[in-house]
Amino acid sequence: MNPLLSRLQPYPFERLRKLTADVTPNPALRPISLGIGEPKHPTPRFIQDALAADLPTGLAGYPPTAGAPALRAACAGWLQRRYGVAVDADTQVLPVLGSREALFALAQTVIDPTRPGATVVCPNPFYQIYEGAALLAGAQAHYVASDPARNFAPRWDQVPGDVWARTQLVYVCSPGNPTGAVMPLDEWRLLFELSDRHGFVIASDECYSEIYFRDEPPLGGLEAAHRLGRGDFRRLVMLTSLSKRSNVPGMRSGFVAGDAAVIKQFLLYRTYHGSAMSPVVAAASIAAWGDEAHVQDNRRQYREKFAAVTPLLSRVMDVTLPDAAFYLWAGVPPVWKSSDTGFARALLAQYNVTVLPGSYLAREAGGVNPGQGRVRMALVAETAECVEAAERIVQFIQSKT
Ligand SMILES: Cc1ncc(COP(=O)(O)O)c(C=O)c1O
Repeated sequence: MNPLLSRLQPYPFERLRKLTADVTPNPALRPISLGIGEPKHPTPRFIQDALAADLPTGLAGYPPTAGAPALRAACAGWLQRRYGVAVDADTQVLPVLGSREALFALAQTVIDPTRPGATVVCPNPFYQIYEGAALLAGAQAHYVASDPARNFAPRWDQVPGDVWARTQLVYVCSPGNPTGAVMPLDEWRLLFELSDRHGFVIASDECYSEIYFRDEPPLGGLEAAHRLGRGDFRRLVMLTSLSKRSNVPGMRSGFVAGDAAVIKQFLLYRTYHGSAMSPVVAAASIAAWGDEAHVQDNRRQYREKFAAVTPLLSRVMDVTLPDAAFYLWAGVPPVWKSSDTGFARALLAQYNVTVLPGSYLAREAGGVNPGQGRVRMALVAETAECVEAAERIVQFIQSKT
């Protein structure tokens, strides 16, 4: 067996299952889960129709790993409209089967494990795939804590120079999971300067970019590069997907775009790995990337939900409306003495609401786990259910304080 497999950590939901295995949720209340960040709004009809329309012909041949030219063009067109950046659809765009597999596979493509101390830098808390991707590529992860005082910005400026010197890949998550924070231009400038100095690749995970609560849409990585005069996107790729934007997490469709040199090697890797998008999924994806009306409607639904839920919870918890994404990243009240796990267990037992302990989404670094004392709540269910969950949480906290 590959010995690197033994370095993988249990996934947060597995840890949550163990944490609550002996808890009996209050049977008088129906269960509400804010645990898993899976979109639940219905898939738009026109996407289903596009998929079905391709079925008679789409399954009869092997798809190209590089994706159909029409799909690459649809992705490039969306980048142009959304961010005002021009990419070459033939050399700078690659369809992938959702961003998760691509975030993982990219590390296998980029990392040279024969170089001493191969390191991947990622935010902390973070989307767990970054760590597994780094470990299975033969690298180690260096965690950069998010700073609650600066809208949860990762303290890139506190990474020691010797760590940067051996860093080969940096994961950026903007909008962030779980914090919802959007990375501003100044931080991009800093990361680009560091990448120029040390030669690492930046992978910008942007799968929440279309769910936002400010007037300004979130700044994208390619957009930041373009604004800073880096039109060749050197050592930069962005990854996005339709899962959250278009409510199709089961379709497994996204794309990677940016530096042509990285994309070229990534395509080579994927040719052997065998990740090619089914033509029926490609047909539905072309339809989805070409339409914004359903995205606006989806965003409106999240905005209404967050407007209803956030004020309720902010009365009893340290929580504010995030920049973007569909999570609340809330501090547990002092009476729990920073025990996010104790909070999650008691909430489930007494009010039958599931939340994810923040410490499960982060790693201890320098003696501190930056997720400790926080919980992540995914507001993916319908508004009424999310409001009911919030009302129960308010009662739960008020009964303790
Ligand atoms: C930060 C982040 N990146 C990537 C993904 C992967 O999503 P998908 O593979 O559906 O594109 C998720 C899913 O929850 C996520 O939270």
